[in-house]
Amino acid sequence: MPDALAEVREWAGQPVVETPIKGGLSHRIARLDAADGQRWVLRVLDPRVSEAELGIPLDLEIANTLLAAESGVGPRVLRRMPDALLLEYLDGSTLDAPAVRALPAPIAAACRKLHAGPRFVNDFSVFRKLERFLDLCHTHQLRKPDGYEDLLGTAAEIERALAARPLPAVPCHNDLLPANFIRCGAEIRIVDYQLSGNNDPAFELGDIAAEADYDPELTRGLARAYFGEDDPGLTARVRLNLIMSNLTWTLWFAVHHGLLAEQAAAADFNYEAEAAGKFERAVRDMDDPGFGRLVDDVRGSHPGSFTPRKKRTTQGGLSDQASPAGRGREETR
Ligand SMILES: Nc1ncnc2c1ncn2[C@@H]1O[C@H](COP(=O)(O)OP(=O)(O)O)[C@@H](O)[C@H]1O
Ligand SMILES: [Mg+2]
Repeated sequence: MPDALAEVREWAGQPVVETPIKGGLSHRIARLDAADGQRWVLRVLDPRVSEAELGIPLDLEIANTLLAAESGVGPRVLRRMPDALLLEYLDGSTLDAPAVRALPAPIAAACRKLHAGPRFVNDFSVFRKLERFLDLCHTHQLRKPDGYEDLLGTAAEIERALAARPLPAVPCHNDLLPANFIRCGAEIRIVDYQLSGNNDPAFELGDIAAEADYDPELTRGLARAYFGEDDPGLTARVRLNLIMSNLTWTLWFAVHHGLLAEQAAAADFNYEAEAAGKFERAVRDMDDPGFGRLVDDVRGSHPGSFTPRKKRTTQGGLSDQASPAGRGREETR
């Protein structure tokens, strides 16, 4: 990242030392320490990520990062460079999954604040994203977990159920895995707007719940904290989006593994194991006897109107591939 760093040094008018931050799987992130004690974060955007459709186009990401800063949830943007951002350094602790499970109320508050802020410059639908990833898998002959296509009928049923009583779209992050939350005192801040776009707020919550492995009761607590009411239809909406998060982000890892092999090798991260783990959780939840009830609750219809999917025996391994050896480390996409 020499060019962006040189530009920051010139802008700051003083020596600046760069320390890479290990963590993210997509871009190059570094802490910058200026001679006078000021500290910033440099985010140099890798164009290969958006070219592979693993993120929104870079100009949209930059625009949304500026809008998220206006809401007070994202870091302030100190300088915008063609392919890099100089960001406020958030002096706090990056969350892990147990921390996200322990903090549903402050996390819901951070989401409400982001969602009440300025609209983003693009829209986002997890269903359209899933279709794009499937196209990419077909075009480039990328491996998906065995039996993946068997779940698409149920995904379409989820989309129809959610569309029966839609919620207004709000500016969503859409990728709230634990490492994108930073706790600064009592407040939670949110970084990394790589997949941001206006969307159903229930996807935001379902995605948080999926990434931090919430059980149904904790998911209900997150929905209650966000919506301010204990409504079975809203909780079911979040739980169906939890399933869509696992199903769709399975392919994020499959596409990353297939199209960005060089980056993947450098990241020392087991992408195939991550894809398989997410897929297994999607299968688990779609095969759960309570699944039909979620669809009914979202539609606000009488129990029993949904016909459950025939149970399958999918293992979740990627086709023509030895069974992956579990999750490599906590996910940091
Ligand atoms: N503004 C910031 N202040 C402090 N730490 C940050 C900031 N932005 C990112 N980080 C740290 O760097 C990690 C990776 O950054 P992130 O923007 O999520 O990159 P990636 O797109 O590669 O996931 C985060 O999990 C967090 O620990
Ligand atoms: Mg990140």
